[in-house]
Amino acid sequence: MRVLKQPGDLRQLAGDWRREAGSLALVPTMGNLHQGHLDLVERARSLAKRVVVSIFVNPAQFGEDEDLSSYPRTPEEDRRALEALGVDCMFTPAPAQMYPLGLPARCLVQLPGISEILCGASRPGHFAGVATVVAKLLNLVAPDVAVFGEKDFQQLIVIRRMVAELFLAVRIEGVPIRREADGLAISSRNRYLDAAERERAAALYRTLVALRDAISGGRRDYAALEREGAGWLERAGFRVDYVAVRRVADLGRPEVADRDLVILGAGWMGRARLIDNVRVRAAQAEHD
Ligand code: PAJ
Repeated sequence: MRVLKQPGDLRQLAGDWRREAGSLALVPTMGNLHQGHLDLVERARSLAKRVVVSIFVNPAQFGEDEDLSSYPRTPEEDRRALEALGVDCMFTPAPAQMYPLGLPARCLVQLPGISEILCGASRPGHFAGVATVVAKLLNLVAPDVAVFGEKDFQQLIVIRRMVAELFLAVRIEGVPIRREADGLAISSRNRYLDAAERERAAALYRTLVALRDAISGGRRDYAALEREGAGWLERAGFRVDYVAVRRVADLGRPEVADRDLVILGAGWMGRARLIDNVRVRAAQAEHD
């Protein structure tokens, strides 16, 4: 496995691999790899001849009061895990290499609207930070396919939009959420939970599943369902950010006729901000 730090070296290696006529996949991550990330790597492996995994804790997507400095960094373990999966290149740049002009002067990729709702409402600038760094990585590697997790559902929608809007020649592949036995979505931030919080955290997935069952059972009073769900989370000890029933296509509020929906939840458990989502197909109403 090649381990690179310089954007120029990555661009050159990816170019060489492309000229060998092999297909190329990119998996962007912030490291501290867990089975959710490794699922993405395995999917990438199955889709392309060469796989590049980037590990970069991107300062531009963290707010002032967020966990940039405490975000877990485990470079040696990550390297071993990627090597074992047969990854061809691990790219681990430093911030100065990804942002040569410095953060304040950096070029920004903005997607207004979609970036300001749900997680974007409580994390201003977050999705511009994500879109910008992913655009940079896509430009360096020019992969045939880039792989992302459905765990960060809004992020996936933002990236698909950016790719369409900038006419980028890459396919974006989404991979289902990997969960712990009790349903909690695996996340690097789960390590901020103490034992009692960890137990209560499973209420997030349970709540989304209960809402899913209510919707597939025919309920369409989405605003009331959102309030019920938020109440369950509060009782489980969450400081709720949002519980939202949205259209899959654009995360807009569903009309009665919309059937392809996603239920998203976000909240704080102790010092961990947790997010999760489940998809649901609304039941056909009798008069439809
Ligand atoms: P990070 O949180 O490290 O996640 C990297 C990728 O792994 C994302 O696409 C995320 O959705 C996916 N992922 C994380 N946990 C998952 C799980 N339990 N199941 C399935 N997929 C999971 O997301 C980011 O980094 C950054 O925003 C990034 C895209 C790298 C840009 O900086």
